[in-house]
Amino acid sequence: MNDKENAAKILKHAKKVVFFTGAGISAESGIPTFRDSLTGLWSKYDPSRLETAQAFRENPALVWGWYLWRRRQMSEALPNAAHLMISNLAETGREVYVVTQNIDNLHERAGSQNVVHLHGSLMSAKCFSCHRPTELTPEQLVVSREGEEVPPPRCGRCNGRLRPGIVWFKEDLPKGAWKSAMRLVRDCDVLVSVGTSGIVTPAADIPEIALSSKAVVIHVNIDDVSLEEPNEYMLIGKACSVLPALWNDS
Ligand code: OAD
Repeated sequence: MNDKENAAKILKHAKKVVFFTGAGISAESGIPTFRDSLTGLWSKYDPSRLETAQAFRENPALVWGWYLWRRRQMSEALPNAAHLMISNLAETGREVYVVTQNIDNLHERAGSQNVVHLHGSLMSAKCFSCHRPTELTPEQLVVSREGEEVPPPRCGRCNGRLRPGIVWFKEDLPKGAWKSAMRLVRDCDVLVSVGTSGIVTPAADIPEIALSSKAVVIHVNIDDVSLEEPNEYMLIGKACSVLPALWNDS
């Protein structure tokens, strides 16, 4: 049997499956990844000017406008066949969980219910000063075009500036999210890691943590990202082709 057949068989018999996802799973929905050389966001933008607390201090309107633009991109995108395969798998009686690094909401819109967001969510905002989470009103979500500077709204409690509820470089992951992820990853039969370059820690350690907890790890990526451990399967291809086939062939 080849890797694909083996992986399909393992998935078929799994009782508890965790999908660990990165930007590559949303690429075919039209949301750019970060590090793909021609199309990734970091080929066009400097993350240090946009994804750090320092960048927000220096130019809050640039950073806020950039996130409004990304939020618009996300709301215009639709869940794809890979997101849908995951939510459909949960209908088959298995326990299925998603631990995602993505800040989009395409897993939820595909119907997945158990989604842990390790890097926060574009749907949320909080105060830069007092950290209180805040709901944004439709008027505060004025559609932003790429590069438009939009001054962030103010916090109703302390009048500080609102920032997106996501994790920036050098910031800690939300404690609850990491704890939930660890509980799931250490206790699953199979971890399917989809569309992540495995560069940004601590999230990048998740496949290794699953392997050391005796789970089988199936990687789905257009590049070979395997760790070359015995319990791993590397399925090379686009998420929207590989994931549905993995289930249909099992
Ligand atoms: P990257 O942009 O680093 O990696 C995307 C991965 O997806 C690469 O390994 C690609 O080969 C793969 N890929 C691209 N298209 C694909 C497709 N159609 N099917 C399958 N795989 C595909 O994105 P992440 O690994 O998610 O952090 O990046 C991790 C973190 O870095 C992000 O969460 C973000 C960023 O800085 C924060 O926002 C804190």
